[in-house]
Amino acid sequence: MRIITYMTLSLAALPLSWANAAQNQQSDSEKGAYIFDLAGCASCHTKDKPLAGGLAMETDFGVFYTPNISPDKEFGIGSWSQTDFNRALREGVSPAGEHYFPAFPYTSYRWMSDEDLRVLKVYIDNQQAVKIANQKHDLAFPFNQRGLMGYWKWLFVDPMPVPGSDSQDPQIQRGAYIANALTHCAECHTPRSLLGGQRTIGMIGTTNGPEGESVPGLVGPKASFVQWSKDDIATLLELGMTPEGDFVGGSMSHVIDNSTAKLTPEDNQALTAYLYQLNN
Ligand code: HEC
Ligand code: HEC
Repeated sequence: MRIITYMTLSLAALPLSWANAAQNQQSDSEKGAYIFDLAGCASCHTKDKPLAGGLAMETDFGVFYTPNISPDKEFGIGSWSQTDFNRALREGVSPAGEHYFPAFPYTSYRWMSDEDLRVLKVYIDNQQAVKIANQKHDLAFPFNQRGLMGYWKWLFVDPMPVPGSDSQDPQIQRGAYIANALTHCAECHTPRSLLGGQRTIGMIGTTNGPEGESVPGLVGPKASFVQWSKDDIATLLELGMTPEGDFVGGSMSHVIDNSTAKLTPEDNQALTAYLYQLNN
C-alpha cells in the first residue's frame, strides 16, 4: 500500500520523459478506450445498454438502427476475428461479405492504423456482452439493396491517403489523423450528395447534416471559423465554447463531451495545429 501511495504522489514530480514512460505502460484496453472515445463509437452504438446498439438514425434514405457491437457471441461481435473487425471498419464489408451503408462512418475509419484497431478490439472484447438482437433497418427502395453499396463505394470511396498526411510537420500529421481517421469531423461538416457520399469539396458546412441539422463550415468564404486563433480552436475542442462565448449545441456538443474534451494535451495541440493550418 505504502509503495503505491508513494508512487502516485511522486508521479507529478517526475521528469517529463518518465511521466511519458508511465503513460506508455497503459494497458491495451486503456489505450483502446481512448480510441473508442475519440472515434465516437458510443454516440451511435449505445442507447440504453453500452454497445448494444438500437439507436435509430433518421436519414434521407430511411431509418437505420445501429447494431449490437458488444462482445456477445450470438448477438454482438464476440466471435469476430481481428481481420473481420478491420475489414468492417476499414472497408465497410461484413464477415459474410456484405457491404455496409455509409451511415457507419467507415469512410473515415478506413484510415485507422493497425495498432489503433488492435487496441480498440481489445477494449471492446473487455466490455460486457449484451444479449439484444439487432433491429432491421427501415429503408426505402432502392436504398434497402445492399448490393447497391458496392456501386456507392466505387463512386465515393476512392483510395486516397488521409488528408493532411503529406505535411512535413509530425504534429500536423498527427492532427490530420485524429481529425480524419478518428474524430471524423468531415462526416458532418461536408455536404453529402443524393447517395450519401461525401463530396470532395471539403468542410464547407451544410444545411442538411445528420438529423437535418445545420452544420457550419470550417473552410470557405462563409465560414467564420477561418478567423479563429489557435487558442480559440483549442478552447472549443476542450470546452465546447466559441470565441463569442457561446457553447456549441446539437450533435457537436456530443463530439466535445464524448471525444475532443478527452484529448490528451498533446493531441489537443496536434488537432488544433491541423485545423488552424486549413485556413492559415
Ligand atoms: C454515426 C454513427 C456511427 C458511428 C459513430 C459508429 N458506427 Fe458502427 N455502425 C453504424 C451503423 C448505422 C451500422 C450498420 C450499418 C449497416 O447495417 O449497413 C454500423 C455497423 C457497425 C459494425 C458492424 C456490426 C455487424 O453486426 O455487422 C461494427 C463492427 C461497428 N459498426 C463498429 C463501430 C465502431 C468500433 C465504431 C467506433 C470506431 C463505430 N462503429 C462507430 C453507425 C455508427
Ligand atoms: C456528428 C456531427 C458532427 C461531427 C462529427 C463534428 N461536428 Fe462540428 N458541428 C456540428 C454541428 C451540428 C455544429 C453546430 C453546433 C451549433 O449550432 O451549436 C458544429 C459546430 C462546430 C464548430 C463551430 C463553428 C462556428 O462557426 O461556430 C466548430 C469549430 C466545429 N464544429 C468543429 C468540429 C471539429 C474540429 C470536429 C472534429 C473533431 C467536428 N466539428 C465534428 C456537427 C459535427
